[in-house]
Amino acid sequence: MSTAAPDSKATFGFQDVDARDKAGLVRGVFDSVASSYDVMNDVMSAGVHRVWKDMAAARLNPQPGEFIVDCAGGTGDMARRFARLADRARKRRGGGAAKIMVIDYNAEMVAAGRTKPFDPAIVWGVGDAQRLPLPDACADAYVISFGIRNVTDIAGALAEARRVLKPGGRFLCLEFSRPVTEALQKAYDAYSFKVIPAMGELVAKDRASYQYLVESIRRFPAQAAFAAMMRDAGFSNVGWTNYTGGVAALHHGWAV
Ligand SMILES: C[S@@+](CC[C@H](N)C(=O)[O-])C[C@H]1O[C@@H](n2cnc3c(N)ncnc32)[C@H](O)[C@@H]1O
Repeated sequence: MSTAAPDSKATFGFQDVDARDKAGLVRGVFDSVASSYDVMNDVMSAGVHRVWKDMAAARLNPQPGEFIVDCAGGTGDMARRFARLADRARKRRGGGAAKIMVIDYNAEMVAAGRTKPFDPAIVWGVGDAQRLPLPDACADAYVISFGIRNVTDIAGALAEARRVLKPGGRFLCLEFSRPVTEALQKAYDAYSFKVIPAMGELVAKDRASYQYLVESIRRFPAQAAFAAMMRDAGFSNVGWTNYTGGVAALHHGWAV
């Protein structure tokens, strides 16, 4: 259920919708794409999303014994990387097992993730980035990968991330962003608007959800604007690293 104020608006792709309706609309998109989500990621990005996720996971540098929240974690693509890296470090240096919690709004995405090989380090939960089912200052790290642009109240989700992080905890947000050159932006626009919805139709039999995907990317704040939102939420050492010329960006900050 949404707690947005009556009359407030939220973006849903290129549409402005009643903020109370956005969560239901986004849930409909991910209900529809859940079963083809992993395949479509590979097809749309020619596998590049795996490289971005590997770089983000290496940047997080998960440690033995840590509690890491993979918010909007979907089918657990990031969580599995964190579990693998923490386990590798534990085998080298000892220490306790890390615990990775996938929290996602959409039960279909979580169910699709749970059908993959079992990993004892990963726990799964259905929950909202704006109201995490976790106590204050419990997490060593919080990651949200390709999730935050779908959230109705982005500032609210950032405040929640900061609330659950321990002082000094690491925050990472991997998200589509703005290409840094005009030529790349033009090529990317042509690919996004002409090719991706058509691929969605062909592979997932769902053009509308992939049209939403490309539109939601364009409505998400650019690198500097999102960094300002992170600072407003109280994160320090805020910065970002562009991937593939800014097609995606890894935003990072520390909870204080
Ligand atoms: C594009 S998928 C990303 C999944 C995964 N993190 C990855 O990188 O592959 C976006 C996910 O955000 C989830 N989501 C959208 N709004 C959310 C919210 N308010 N709280 C938690 N999850 C949300 C969706 O259900 C979906 O699984």
